[in-house]
Parts: sequence; structure tokens; C-alpha cells
Amino acid sequence: MKVVTVLGARPQFIKAAPVSRALRKSHTEIIVHTGQHYDANMSDIFFEELHIPKPDYHLGVGSGNHGKQTGQMLADIETIILDEKPDYLLVYGDTNSTLAGALAAAKLHVPVIHIEAGLRSFNKKMPEEINRIMTDHVSEFLFCPTETAVKNLTDENITRNVINVGDVMYDAVEYNRKLAAEKSDILSKHNLGNKDYLLITVHRAENTDNLENITNILKAFSEIEDKKVWPIHPRTKHKLESMGFDLAAVPNLLVIEPVGYLDMLTLENHAKKILTDSGGVQKEAYFMQVPCVTLREQTEWVETLESEANILVGTDVEAILNATRKEVNPQYKEIFGDANASEKIVQAIEG
Ligand code: UD1
Ligand code: UDP
Repeated sequence: MKVVTVLGARPQFIKAAPVSRALRKSHTEIIVHTGQHYDANMSDIFFEELHIPKPDYHLGVGSGNHGKQTGQMLADIETIILDEKPDYLLVYGDTNSTLAGALAAAKLHVPVIHIEAGLRSFNKKMPEEINRIMTDHVSEFLFCPTETAVKNLTDENITRNVINVGDVMYDAVEYNRKLAAEKSDILSKHNLGNKDYLLITVHRAENTDNLENITNILKAFSEIEDKKVWPIHPRTKHKLESMGFDLAAVPNLLVIEPVGYLDMLTLENHAKKILTDSGGVQKEAYFMQVPCVTLREQTEWVETLESEANILVGTDVEAILNATRKEVNPQYKEIFGDANASEKIVQAIEG
């Protein structure tokens, strides 16, 4: 079996690591990197740290408006599919790289494998929601991380080859947890102690591109007394600079460049709480059993909201403060499978 895998953004590199490892035991994989993320600390570091095979094709598409970025990927991926003649095309998640890969393959009648299928926020203002709905509707194999995802697809009349295999990000965390503990020196580097800081990540367009939302988020951060660590996404850094915000004015805040995966797992594991609008980081907080506060109006990971393992606060200042200060006692369950999703995916495709 020959599979073309399309990757482009940070979380996709992390998801690809365990799946590529499982797939390559008995099949051929061709990796296409669209170049959606290109800074060394948003891309190369993950290939190196997680031993993801070097991409066979690098499209170098870079940043841009949705149409231009997705369109350029679409044209280039089409050419690669025509040359490589794969049996399947594999995509992850809900980025513009996901949509471009899925569309290019579907039009050429190459069956699409979608990993992390069936997620919905029911908010079509999010580019990710458009990408995932479109991708699910042209996919042949839909690998869901949760039962909710399966139900979302059933509600859209998609039932064939829909399989809950669990979450490949759980595979990645379990594989790298020990390695992170051994190798990462991020805590000592920044003089951080176990459970003596909050970890922050913010990058969603609905927050970074909305003046009211980002102002509220920063106001809340300013009022939180705890030590805070924020590996800042380049999107957010650029937006804050262009809007004239000065993060140095936020008390007790350590802003650092994006970190590698092993450092990130370490920062998550030792945080008192995590404040985020990231999909992946919400899940990792759950895997690490660290209480999470989600700076969004909806979450695709609704199971994490049970027993306040994750509290959805949007961007209301008081809601952020209350949730951050609240003592919670979550009950964690095995809602993301058994950290063996990658093997199950390969077995299902083999039939
Ligand atoms: C993308 C995905 C989002 C995902 C996120 C993961 C879409 C529509 N969005 O959002 O779903 O959660 O990746 O991180 O696909 N930039 C750099 N260097 C880089 C990459 C980006 O400076 O290596 C900056 C550029 O200013 C760019 C901006 O970040 O314009 C946004 O990048 P883009 O890939 O368009 O979207 P993300 O916000 O990263
Ligand atoms: N991540 C990382 N370094 C960072 C921030 C995030 O390695 O500085 C990892 C994080 O552990 C998770 C993934 O990137 O595995 C989440 O990606 P992101 O938040 O960019 O996107 P989303 O999951 O929201 O699509």
C-alpha cells in the first residue's frame, strides 16, 4: 500500500509521528509538507525531536489569505498525486493543509483517510470548522478520536468506515512522556518549579484577530497574580505587535518563543493550570490531568468539560478569573481510547 500524507501545521507533525511509525512498518509513505508552518520552532524541531521522516516534497507555500494559501497547496498536491499514484491520501485535523490535501485527492478519486474526523464546534465562523466539514464529507476512512465525533458524523449521515480508534495525540503523549522527563531542561532554564506557574497558549483567529477578545484576555492575564509562562505562537506575536500591545506590562508573565514538543509536555505536566484556546493543548491537559481553562466560546472536546477538568470561559474577564482561581477536583476517564490509535488505524485500512 502506498500512502501520500499531507502535513503543514505544528499539531499535524505531532499527530503524524506515531501514525507514520505504525504505517511504515509494512507500507510506503510519501510525506508532503505544504509549508503552512515554516519557522524552525514551528516545524523542523518536531521532525527532528519526534524522528518524523524527512518530507519527500516541500511545497513552501507559507502564510497568506485562506484562498491563496489553500489554492496553491491544492494545485501542487494535485501534481504530486498524479505523479505518485498513491492508494490513499492521509490528512490530519482541520487546517488549510488538511482541506487542500483532501480536495485534491477526492477530485482524482484517490480515497482520503481523515484522522481526527468528526469534530465539530458548530461555529462556521471558524476556518477550522469549514475545513473539517468539507474534509469529512469527501473522506473514505474517518478515524474519530471520541464517541462524540462518531455521533457528529452520524448526524450528518456519514456512517461508512467511521471508526472510533481513540486519539493519536494520546499515542504521542504516552510515547514521549518519559522521554520529556529525561530530556527537557525547560523548567530549570526558566527557574520554574513544579505547580508554581500557569501555562498559557493563545492563537485562535477568533481571539487574536478580534480587538475586544484579545483585550479582555490580556486584561484577565494582568489581574491573575500567579506566575505565568506563555510560549507565544507567531500569529499572536505579530498581531499583538501590530495592535500595539506590550506584554511586558503584564505582571509576572514570562513570554517565550514556541517550544519543542518535549519541552511543551514538560511545561504542561508541571503547570498548576493551563489557560489555552488550542485544541491539542486542551487534550494534553486532560492526558496530564492538569486542570484547563479554555478561552473559547465552544470546544470540540466536550467530554473534557465533565467534572470541570476543563472549564469553557470564552473571553469574559470575570469568567477567566473565576475559572483560573477556582479549586477543582476533576475525575479523569479514558475518553480518548487506549493510546493505541495509530496501530488501529493501520489495521483498519489494511482491512
Ligand atoms: C493554523 C490552523 C489552525 C491551527 C494552527 C496550529 C488554519 C486555517 N489554521 O493556524 O487550525 O490550530 O495552525 O498552530 O489552517 N506564522 C509565522 N511562522 C510560521 C507559521 C505562521 O510567522 O511558521 C505566522 C504568520 O504571520 C501567519 C500566521 O502566523 O500569517 C498564521 O499562520 P497560519 O498557518 O495561517 O494559521 P495559524 O494561526 O498558525
Ligand atoms: N505545542 C508545542 N510547542 C508550543 C505550543 C504547542 O509543541 O510552544 C504543541 C502542543 O503540545 C500540542 C500542539 O502543539 O501537541 C498543539 O498545537 P497548536 O496549539 O498550535 O494547534 P491546535 O491543536 O489548536 O490546532
